Amino acid sequence: MASPTHQLWLLMFALGAVELICGYSFHNCIADPNSNWKSFSCKSRKDRLMSLIVNDLPRSVVNLTITFNPLMHVPNNSFVHLPNLQNLRLDHNQLRHVDSSAFRNLHQLQSLNMSLNEISELNASLFEDLQNLTFLSLANNKLNKFPEGIFFGVHNANTLLFRNNCLTNFSEVVKSISHLMKLEVLDLCSNKLTSLSHSNVSLPQSLSVLYLCRNNLHTLGCSSSFLSFIKLLDLSNNIKLRTVNFREVNLSHVKSLHLNSTSVNIVDFLKISNINAGCVDFSGTGLNNSNSINELCRLLKTKLKSIKNVQLRHNGIWNLHNFNFSYCPKITGALDLSFNKLKSVKCPSFIYNQLGITKFTAEHNLLMSLPSCKKQKDFQFKSMEEISYRFNRILTVNAHAFGQTPNIRVLKLNINNVAFLHRQALKGLKKLKILRLDNNLLTDLFKETFETNVQLQILNLRNNRISVIFKETFFNLKYLNTLDLGCNKITHFQPSGLDGLKSLSKLYLDGNNLKQIDSSFYHIFQDTLTVLDLASNQIRFLREENISPFVNLSKLIDLKLNSQRDHGLAVLPRTLFRGLHSLKSLYLTNNNIVYLPPEAFDDLTNLTFLTLENCCVGVAQLEPGVFKNLRNLTRLILENMGIQNLSKEVFGNLTQLRILQINRNVMQSIPVNALQSLPRLQYLDIRNIPLSCTCKNKFLQNYTVNNPDVQVVYLYKLPCQPDKSLKFYNFDTKVCYIDLGKYMCFINVAAVFLFTVIPLLYVKLYWKIKYSYYVFRSWFSEHWSRIRDKEENCKYDAFISYNFSDEEWVLNELLPNLEGNGSSLKLCLHHRDFELGRNIVDNIVTAVYSSRKTICVVSRNFLQSEWCSLEIQLASYRLFDEHRDVLLLVFLEPISERQLSSYHRMRKVMLKKTYLQWPDSDCSDPLQAQELFWNQLRRAIKAGSRLETEQDDNDKDFAPESKATEHCDNLLTNESYY
Ligand SMILES: *[C@@H]1O[C@H](CO)[C@@H](O)[C@H](O)[C@H]1NC(C)=O
Ligand SMILES: *[C@@H]1O[C@H](CO)[C@@H](O)[C@H](O)[C@H]1NC(C)=O
Ligand SMILES: *[C@@H]1O[C@H](CO)[C@@H](O)[C@H](O)[C@H]1NC(C)=O
Repeated sequence: MASPTHQLWLLMFALGAVELICGYSFHNCIADPNSNWKSFSCKSRKDRLMSLIVNDLPRSVVNLTITFNPLMHVPNNSFVHLPNLQNLRLDHNQLRHVDSSAFRNLHQLQSLNMSLNEISELNASLFEDLQNLTFLSLANNKLNKFPEGIFFGVHNANTLLFRNNCLTNFSEVVKSISHLMKLEVLDLCSNKLTSLSHSNVSLPQSLSVLYLCRNNLHTLGCSSSFLSFIKLLDLSNNIKLRTVNFREVNLSHVKSLHLNSTSVNIVDFLKISNINAGCVDFSGTGLNNSNSINELCRLLKTKLKSIKNVQLRHNGIWNLHNFNFSYCPKITGALDLSFNKLKSVKCPSFIYNQLGITKFTAEHNLLMSLPSCKKQKDFQFKSMEEISYRFNRILTVNAHAFGQTPNIRVLKLNINNVAFLHRQALKGLKKLKILRLDNNLLTDLFKETFETNVQLQILNLRNNRISVIFKETFFNLKYLNTLDLGCNKITHFQPSGLDGLKSLSKLYLDGNNLKQIDSSFYHIFQDTLTVLDLASNQIRFLREENISPFVNLSKLIDLKLNSQRDHGLAVLPRTLFRGLHSLKSLYLTNNNIVYLPPEAFDDLTNLTFLTLENCCVGVAQLEPGVFKNLRNLTRLILENMGIQNLSKEVFGNLTQLRILQINRNVMQSIPVNALQSLPRLQYLDIRNIPLSCTCKNKFLQNYTVNNPDVQVVYLYKLPCQPDKSLKFYNFDTKVCYIDLGKYMCFINVAAVFLFTVIPLLYVKLYWKIKYSYYVFRSWFSEHWSRIRDKEENCKYDAFISYNFSDEEWVLNELLPNLEGNGSSLKLCLHHRDFELGRNIVDNIVTAVYSSRKTICVVSRNFLQSEWCSLEIQLASYRLFDEHRDVLLLVFLEPISERQLSSYHRMRKVMLKKTYLQWPDSDCSDPLQAQELFWNQLRRAIKAGSRLETEQDDNDKDFAPESKATEHCDNLLTNESYY
């Protein structure tokens, strides 16, 4: 029933709800929970309208990332509500159109990335408001020109990236940026520029880095001083660019020039250019054999005493002979021979006269092995600090392979095929600090392998084929800080296999074949170990074991035990994490744990991060108190655990928890008090939970929508179960407020009762009530018994009820015919027989009850008279309710039924009883008719008053059906006249 009151109430409720929506959940964005509502990320959404993505973001946004969306258009004023925006990423969308006022109001914006879109045109006033912009990327779009004045307002611009567009007119570009006095970096690579001609404009003097690679430059065509402030100039991959183009171009300030893949002859170029020859990158300049290198070196030597770095990448060099670089000036820095075709570096004998080199790089070559270099005692690269042979095909590293470079600190042999590392291969490298041997085919390490590398700090052996760690392998590595043995085939350590690692802080053993956690050796790291990665091994507990392998690792901060292979941990011993008082992060994902003992995490009082994602078999039951001691936990991941229900007791003491991820579980509802027990909660992920849109979630809905502190990830997209077309945040909870509703309903019913039933009852029972009242009153005034006594042998034969206007007829016709004329009936007439000074109502009651009959003289005036009504009602009450036939109706004039219809009770009397009609004076024989009338009336008055009780249909309206009123009737009956 929707009464007006009810509807009003609902309306008020709805309005209230609308006003109350102030929660921090967003349609398409996620706030970085550590950023205090300042960093938002809106990635991989389906909505195609920018407004749907950004409209609900708060003013506080500073960093906004909108990427991988099917957005095509940035409309005007898109971010006008985000005036604090400083960093805006719009890359990796499908933007085609950016309206002229799209960035209106972004006065604080510092960085704008619109790369990787399909923008072909920009409006001249687009960047008007971006006075604070320093970084702008439009890379990877389809721009072919800039409208005039487009960068007019961005005078703080420092970096402009226009790589990979279709720009053709360099002059126009320069014109648009020439006023930017803070511009330092300009990237125009991969466009369609053909020359650097620039009419009258020049580059800002601040510009120091200019990328022009991968264009179509066939000439420079710029004034001689045009590039004179540039420090880094990349002209690579302009295949048509020739040596002559550099004639008279001032490159004196250039510190780095790239001519990779041009038609420039590098030797001729050096002859004509004023560039500092030591600043030229010789990569990709066709210097592919000893002769051309010699020629270059001779020329360099004429210009330079020494040269810092020599880069010879991408030159197709396949063979170098001994002392190849002997004509070069002294190289004091790095020699880079990467991306060539060298099969061997021979100790490296080709630079035997360049012993000052500090860094030698030969990555991406075809090196097959590193020979023994012990013999060449005369050629010691004492300055050499770093060697990198990454990305080769080195299979064997022979003994003393680095005999010539005893002082290297960094050695990179990673990403090769090293299967054989001679026990003496690294011998003598006493200063080695970083050794990369990862991604090779090593199977065995020996005590001797690292014996002399006493300074080693970082040793990376990841992704090899080591299966056993022999004893004392790392025995001398007392400074080793990081040991990465991940992704090998280690099944066990020999006793003392990890001995000697006195400083070890980070130990990675993930992805091996360890079957158990060997408590015997972890204790040696007790004061040093902070990170222990045991993920993806084969550790498994089949029954509850009382083990605490980490008990002494009092400094451990980060422990990974996730993804134990094939079968998972199965059982989690309740004592497993004993003693880990410093632990901050614990990873237990993917483990098929059958049961999480509620004591398991008891010692982890400093834990801040715990992930149990997908850790359990089937349906996980989180025991109450399982997190009770995690007072410092800030992030808890319970994703995909098959959780069926959560309770407040489970979350216990998580007073610092800010991030809770319970997505992908199977509970249909989440008790709000459980969430409310997390006072600092900011971020709640409940995606992919079959939350039912029923009343049991009405409080959850309210909580998620209205809580101003908690962000519910993509709340407005969460579907209902099972009807996914409905949304959880606004499913209809009206029916749920039945408690309140009941109350309202009660009020409604009361109102309805008041306004409908009572009037009805009033109409129906008015006379009953009135009658009762009078009867009672009479009773209390001690008249009642008297009336009753009299009633037995009635004082009058008939009480005449008539209207004043009919008095003439009563006195002239009725009285003589009934009282006189030998009929000797005793009539009660109110003007004659009513007791003076007595209440008229009492008089009427008395009259009715002390007369055997009540004769109503009905005329139109009678019907309108209230007192007559009272009389007739009283009499008819006796007729219907006492089954006493006391009423006689005498109609003085014809009254149609329609006219009687408003006198409901009268009509009823007429239906029940025959009535007498005073003959019309027009009728054929009035006197005879009148004689008949009087006879009938006299007989009716004399007839017994006891009515033969016949249950006719009309009676049913009153008596037997309404038991409730029966009680009241009984009361009257008991006290009354029978
Ligand atoms: C915004 O991004 C910048 C650069 O990525 C970062 O340095 C800064 O910390 C971020 N600010 C916030 C509030 O996250
Ligand atoms: C640029 O940023 C600075 C510091 O955030 C601010 O004080 C200044 O008002 C901004 N400039 C404009 C034009 O808004
Ligand atoms: C030289 O050009 C090649 C081929 O375009 C490229 O892969 C390489 O990165 C460039 N090298 C340098 C040093 O610019």
